[in-house]
Amino acid sequence: MLSIFLKSYTSLKKSGLQIVRQLSSVNFDIQQKHPQAQRPVGLPRARYGGRNAVTMLPGGGIGPELMDYVKEVFLEGGIPVDFETIQIDPKSDNNDDLEYAIMSIRRNGVCIKGNIETQSLDSAIISRNVAIRNELDLFMNVIHVQSYNNIRSRHKNVDVIVVRQNTEGEYAMLEHESVKGVVESMKVITKTNSTRLARNAFELAKNNGRSKVTAIHKANIMKLSDGLFLETCKNMSLNYPDIKFDHMIIDNCCMQLVSNPHQFDVMVMPNLYGSIVSNVICGLVGGAGIISGKNYGDHYAVFEPGTRNTGSSIAGTNTANPIAMLNASADMLEHLGHRVHCDKIRTAISKTLNEDMVHTPDLNGTAKSSDVVQNIIKYVKSIGGRI
Ligand code: NAI
Repeated sequence: MLSIFLKSYTSLKKSGLQIVRQLSSVNFDIQQKHPQAQRPVGLPRARYGGRNAVTMLPGGGIGPELMDYVKEVFLEGGIPVDFETIQIDPKSDNNDDLEYAIMSIRRNGVCIKGNIETQSLDSAIISRNVAIRNELDLFMNVIHVQSYNNIRSRHKNVDVIVVRQNTEGEYAMLEHESVKGVVESMKVITKTNSTRLARNAFELAKNNGRSKVTAIHKANIMKLSDGLFLETCKNMSLNYPDIKFDHMIIDNCCMQLVSNPHQFDVMVMPNLYGSIVSNVICGLVGGAGIISGKNYGDHYAVFEPGTRNTGSSIAGTNTANPIAMLNASADMLEHLGHRVHCDKIRTAISKTLNEDMVHTPDLNGTAKSSDVVQNIIKYVKSIGGRI
């Protein structure tokens, strides 16, 4: 499947540029080159006897242990989901695992993943995470950042939804060294993707009783690309007169976030700003181990920790905070329509963090990852009324 998107040096050379070094995609889709054509068609969902089949991509670092916790909680909670687990070899010099993983997500419609490492030095093998998002047209990333009362943090009662473009912008991976010592990197903003992102941000605001959408940009410098993004958001806001529209440049936004995050409600932005803002705001409420992230396209949904880290330095130490991945699993259950199971997990997480204060070291606690998971399992079982 990926092979149809093969880009060769030859075609680039034909364009007249002197390509000394090509860092960008040689081997997978650049979605925005064909923004109209690249829309995957959904397959019928695999659902066996009322159970959902979900693709699980553990990824690297702490991913595999966090996935084991998810499976344990689902098993103990009697949650009707079967995982199809696919390991993508980070050192592999081919895309076989990746292609299989993408086909599995197409079949199941839904995936839960850790951050997948790409260790190959071959420039044709680029980020598998980006490839999955582009291949499945997961154009939108959403993180809902909400404070837990008893996690020590600089600000209390943060409640912000970040909507991020997920497939273009600075992640176009169109880079080349035009003459020696001069590398050019293209940022791609399309009206099509900006429009559907903006529409989804306003719809999300409307459906969740939110009152304001703030577009984040750098249109004062990138007048054409960010200018188009901003203009598209402004135009979209005219369709939603009950929701206040505001905009802010990314630099000021970072300062405003750390000094007064409460002024934000729903935020919408291009890809790289979204990554930065997500990390800043997750840090404000407790760090990489807490908040989950959702990736949506027209047909598929992929759930993962909000900051997409690998946490390699703490892998295998039983200290990683399992909450972000468990929150991702709850998001996934909500998406699948398993509302009761989703609520059970969210309630168990809230009780564990806020009432029992079972906190891992990243939250200044002394609990092991497994202590947190066992505490959550205790609630997941009891909330169902089985013990
Ligand atoms: P990292 O994985 O080193 O994590 C940053 C810090 O957060 C580390 O101190 C880590 O121990 C801690 N941490 C992460 N998850 C945790 C958890 N569940 N519980 C407790 N502590 C946790 O992050 P870094 O350096 O940003 O990225 C590592 C790899 O992830 C790189 O290969 C990078 O490309 C990739 N990555 C990171 C993204 C990000 O938004 N930070 C986004 C996409 C990829």
